[in-house]
Amino acid sequence: MNMNWLSKFAPLPEDFSGIQTPADLARWELSNWLPEHSFTLEPDPSMGDGFRISGSTITGGETGLLYGAYALLRHMQAGAPLPSESCPRYPLRMIDCWDNMDGSVERGYAGRSLFFEGNCFAYHPDRLRHLARLMASVGLNVLCISNVNVHEPAQGLLDEFLPDLSALADLFRPFGIRLMVSVDFSMPIRDGFSSADPRDAGVQAWWQAAAARVYREIPDLAGFLVKADSEGRPGPFTYGRTHAEGANLLARALRPFGGVLVWRCFVYNCRQDWRDHTIDRPMAAYDTYQPLDGQFDENVILQIKNGPFDFQVREPVSPLLLSMQKTRMALELQLAQEYTGQQIDLYTMAPMWREIFQDLPPERIQAIAAVSNFGRDENYFGHPLAAVNLFGFGLLAWNPEITPEEIVSQWILLTYDFLPEDQETLGRWMLASRRIYEKYTSPLGLGWMITPHTHYGPNPSGYEYDLWGTYHRASRDAVGINRTSAGTGYTCQYPPALRQRYEDASACPDLLLLFFHRLPYGFRMKDGRSLIQRIYDDHFEGAEQAARLLEALKGLPFPEPDRQVILDRAVRQKENAENWRDVINTFFHRLSGVPDALERKIFD
Ligand code: GCU
Repeated sequence: MNMNWLSKFAPLPEDFSGIQTPADLARWELSNWLPEHSFTLEPDPSMGDGFRISGSTITGGETGLLYGAYALLRHMQAGAPLPSESCPRYPLRMIDCWDNMDGSVERGYAGRSLFFEGNCFAYHPDRLRHLARLMASVGLNVLCISNVNVHEPAQGLLDEFLPDLSALADLFRPFGIRLMVSVDFSMPIRDGFSSADPRDAGVQAWWQAAAARVYREIPDLAGFLVKADSEGRPGPFTYGRTHAEGANLLARALRPFGGVLVWRCFVYNCRQDWRDHTIDRPMAAYDTYQPLDGQFDENVILQIKNGPFDFQVREPVSPLLLSMQKTRMALELQLAQEYTGQQIDLYTMAPMWREIFQDLPPERIQAIAAVSNFGRDENYFGHPLAAVNLFGFGLLAWNPEITPEEIVSQWILLTYDFLPEDQETLGRWMLASRRIYEKYTSPLGLGWMITPHTHYGPNPSGYEYDLWGTYHRASRDAVGINRTSAGTGYTCQYPPALRQRYEDASACPDLLLLFFHRLPYGFRMKDGRSLIQRIYDDHFEGAEQAARLLEALKGLPFPEPDRQVILDRAVRQKENAENWRDVINTFFHRLSGVPDALERKIFD
């Protein structure tokens, strides 16, 4: 079994019957790694997930003891800083799988589902325990196993599949991981109701009965996750109700059992007409939810994607995250590399998360979630180096102040036995990988320009005359959408400091220029280059760096089978980068007619 960053840990025992609780697991991990030390584990339920380490005593809540043990082991194996006392910033540190019961994974790039096949549960307990251990070792504590787009028969997870779900919850429990389920807002209709209207007393009773049934089987279920009125999913809009009414309906059913209702805010018009300039998709979530601030029950958490579009390589932080004052919110990240290279291209996300938290004060949110990047591939992640994104997400959810450098260096030390210079080389490329990908893909915050539906490779006009609201409106003279107060007004959704930063093209960070502004190709960038020259330069540089990345990776002593997989993917990345470079440069060259100042090859 591929152990990823637990490669220096002993494999888990085949007979797991002696490990029932996180404290049992903590004891087992410590005695395996440090048989000569005897650690005392001192339970203190008031500490919850938190722990304290003093001499050879670890004190903590039931799960805190486990996190303390893992922190200690990470410290001993990779020199990770060992705080004498620690507790996570967010109580809910969640992974959302977009797994379907037929075994497919929506936007999955690491093989089929680890949980399902053929419309039923199908898993290998050892592999799932290893996954659970990977998650627990970095403090992740909630796992939603089913896709937010609930396709039949996944509606039956609250019904005929409940015993299977309960068995899975048992498997994850010793790792301190609680399950969550994606539910479909129209589920009462499946049961014969004529509507799913939140004001209908019968519908309310249906949800209460469903929650009671589920909690009887799984008393520690974390709650439900809902995608409603989004990309064709049913929701309260059908009945003329608000999303607060919709969310509260389910939250009230969960409340007696201590469950939370996580309600996603990915709501926008996905049937837009490209000719219609009055709708600006990034404004949608704020417009829908901001007026409802204060109307959500206490056990509702709004889950909001980091940017206002959809997990592009660079977006400004979602203004909704900065504007709600009286509502609990979760930041949603995407580890699955849907728009960011699909686990073929190297893409380490920690630098991007750092930027998000520079604009999002960590105390504004109460929870953090990420779309999973694992699947049934032998190494779980498709690309062996993509494992750093799950690893790093766990550490970030525990402590959003962690630096990308810390994440990457700890991960390398835990995963590979490299000499310091090789660690350093790999770390440097991993940290650079996001910028490299960004350079050869869609320029300066413009986003999209990607092949429709598959979302890998370039297609500048693929979405341009389509329904999804993702337009660049590039013409002979200019590119981008004016989202300032003089344009669509999107910048007005931000608090004053950010509004000012984005409003004025001369203050706006270069890398977000084309997100906020419509600019002529001759626009002077801060360094004196023209906009079009900057686009050409970035694309030549990005492709060249992808080629150098391949050479650098060849020179590193990765063990097999990682080496083969890493090099194969780096070859594909190099080709992808060349393709992006040529398509984007040609696209802009044909439109603008401006030659490259350095006379490099741009195809006709
Ligand atoms: C993206 C993605 C979909 C997904 C959606 C979501 O649009 O392409 O596959 O369902 O995000 O976050 O719900």
